[in-house]
Amino acid sequence: MDKEIDWKNLSFGYMPTDYNVRCYFRDGKWGDIEVSQSEEVNLHIAATCLHYGQEIFEGLKAFRGKDGKVRVFRLEENAKRICESAKGILMQPLPVEKFKEMVLKVVSLNERFVPPYGSGASLYIRPLELGISAQVGVKPASEYLFLILVTPVGPYFKTGFKPTNICIMRRYDRVAPNGTGLWKVGGNYAASLTAGEHAHELGYSAVLYLDPKEKKYLDECGPANFIAIKNGVYITPASQSILPSITNKSLMQLAEDMGIKVECRHITVDELEQIDEAAAVGTAAVASPVGEIDDLDTGKKYIVSKDGQPGPIVTRLYETLRGIQLGEIEDTHGWCTVVE
Ligand code: PLP
Ligand code: COI
Repeated sequence: MDKEIDWKNLSFGYMPTDYNVRCYFRDGKWGDIEVSQSEEVNLHIAATCLHYGQEIFEGLKAFRGKDGKVRVFRLEENAKRICESAKGILMQPLPVEKFKEMVLKVVSLNERFVPPYGSGASLYIRPLELGISAQVGVKPASEYLFLILVTPVGPYFKTGFKPTNICIMRRYDRVAPNGTGLWKVGGNYAASLTAGEHAHELGYSAVLYLDPKEKKYLDECGPANFIAIKNGVYITPASQSILPSITNKSLMQLAEDMGIKVECRHITVDELEQIDEAAAVGTAAVASPVGEIDDLDTGKKYIVSKDGQPGPIVTRLYETLRGIQLGEIEDTHGWCTVVE
């Protein structure tokens, strides 16, 4: 290692690693997987990703387990989701098997960057696809680059597993009602920057977006889904404008395994009065407990955590998910792939 990495104090940021992997779609087919040591891509000045945002990405993690083995969490789900994103903005979908092969290869090549067990850190895997052929008319590209980089990361929210406050601001939308919200399209994140920075300036960790059509129902929480516990029931928004989170899907399954009822449905802002626990859930966020939700338009403050501590059900769900990812709890659903 060039320089000792302070695994316990990593932030959610970029650190160079040894290799990335790449695959090109040209002449109507995907080529061989290429291994690269370069941190750069060479692009045509008229590439569609540069002009018309033809770019999609994913986020998943690899963990060093208690037994020393490296496990990648639910890679097949990310493989399928990026295919949906590709179809959504007319890009070429990468076959699921090729995605899996690329992920396992890049993790294995960068094994020395998988943080040690007990550090709380993980190896973040960032697949992305770019439209690379030249086009000046608004049309999809005919050539694509699929690239996967990895970087070791710590917690997304600086506080770690401690409640943070989030806010509602109706002046901002992340996506349109029938837009690209259910795909992981780079443009959605560009559209969220102003709101996100505004929320941070006001001391909030994230924005809780409302549905962009009626501004009546909860949608999602910046770069994570929103979940809440109400009278012992796990509730999470059903919406056409949010990303179908793999973490949320996993937590819903774990909740059911624990005998907790799960409801995926519309949740009105007023219902926040009645919730006992809440969290922002996602690969980066894991399950970050929410302390307070402030509606900046009505001035109403919904206090979720009265004692400044995460609630019992969110804590149990978080610990079970982490336990499975770290090989401490039996992976009964077959969610982890061990990297050989
Ligand atoms: N919602 C958005 C907008 C996200 O960017 C993410 C992160 O990927 C999520 C939700 C959570 O999804 P997942 O649990 O699959 O990481
Ligand atoms: C993730 O959780 O993987 C994300 O993509 C969220 C964010 C870092 C964009």
